[in-house]
Amino acid sequence: MNTIIEKIDKTQLNSKESIRIIKMAGEILKAGGLVAFPTETVYGLGADGLNEEAAAKIYAAKGRPSDNPLIIHIANMASLKRIAKRIPETAVKIAEKCWPGPLTMIFEKTDAVPYGTTGGLETVAVRMPCDETAAALIREGGGFIAAPSANTSGRPSPTKARHVKEDLDGRIDMIVDGGPVDIGVESTILDMTVMPPMILRPGAVTREMLEELIGTVCVDQAIISSDSKERPKAPGMKYRHYAPRAELSIVEGQAGGVISRINHMTAQKIQEGYKVGIIGTDETVEQYKDGVIKSIGTRTDEAEIASRLYGILREFDDERVDYIFSEAFPTGGIGSAIMNRLLKAAGHHVIHIVNDK
Ligand code: TXA
Ligand code: MG
Repeated sequence: MNTIIEKIDKTQLNSKESIRIIKMAGEILKAGGLVAFPTETVYGLGADGLNEEAAAKIYAAKGRPSDNPLIIHIANMASLKRIAKRIPETAVKIAEKCWPGPLTMIFEKTDAVPYGTTGGLETVAVRMPCDETAAALIREGGGFIAAPSANTSGRPSPTKARHVKEDLDGRIDMIVDGGPVDIGVESTILDMTVMPPMILRPGAVTREMLEELIGTVCVDQAIISSDSKERPKAPGMKYRHYAPRAELSIVEGQAGGVISRINHMTAQKIQEGYKVGIIGTDETVEQYKDGVIKSIGTRTDEAEIASRLYGILREFDDERVDYIFSEAFPTGGIGSAIMNRLLKAAGHHVIHIVNDK
């Protein structure tokens, strides 16, 4: 299959050229095809979410396990009623504040939603993205666009159109290139079918923000505990996603101890003949000695760290490193999403440095 790639200027969505691109994407989606498109979190791989055959193509293109349900993307509140049964008052409150935006809510599904989209579940995940290109494309594509992240299963989520091309060129109908995404980690997932509502995946909409709106919100323990025996409630969270090709270890502790341990382990691995990558920060990179050293950004700007994370993992893939050592990050705000993704990429391999040694 020849994949059409079209660049769209987000600041000129009303231009003739943008309208042509969105129309073309909409036609493909309505005909049951696959279109990758930017959202504020990561690039999504879209298909008509109410068309079982179209949704099935997503699983085939990504190599995604068929029990892993898809998020349906909508562009207005009226659409929610068509796919979700029993929308609690709290959900309406949250939607008023957080939609459109980087939040997915889970509801009981209506009969309009095929099991092929929900991986056989009676519930449906719904998100209203705020990226204007995404919103236009959802409207033009029929209003209900099922979209997982547009990566091959097991690869880091794409934050640039180039990443989508690397993984899916020739396997999908079209890529709409809207430039780099804004946030860089996937949406927060909040299960509204339980009381109190439960976060199944941390993202840019934090627990604190949600609790301010509706009171107590729980967090699925399986996503924060390093005990892999707990089974996450979002089916997709059980896979070792975002896996870089190299073996990734996170080194946690006081900065001085972390840096000297990473330098030590790097020297050792290089001596053994391996290629090593290091994920440091603007504050620390100069203190690393050997290996492929990258800064993920400054510790004073966690949003920047989030937006660089998947890109850095891909860069290390391209550079064929065998081992990656990464610093750890604080877990407040979007930090919990950063550490959740990093821990998953590392298969929960964390080295704790005690006593600054
Ligand atoms: O930011 C995002 O959410 C991106 C963009 C494209 O919108 N999408 C995304 O989709 O991250 P995906 O498929 O890569 O991740 C969806 C996650 C999976 O872990 C899946 O198991 C979970 O959502 N999920 C979907 N429907 C669910 C349901 N009914 N119950 C529990 N978990 C669900
Ligand atoms: Mg994904």
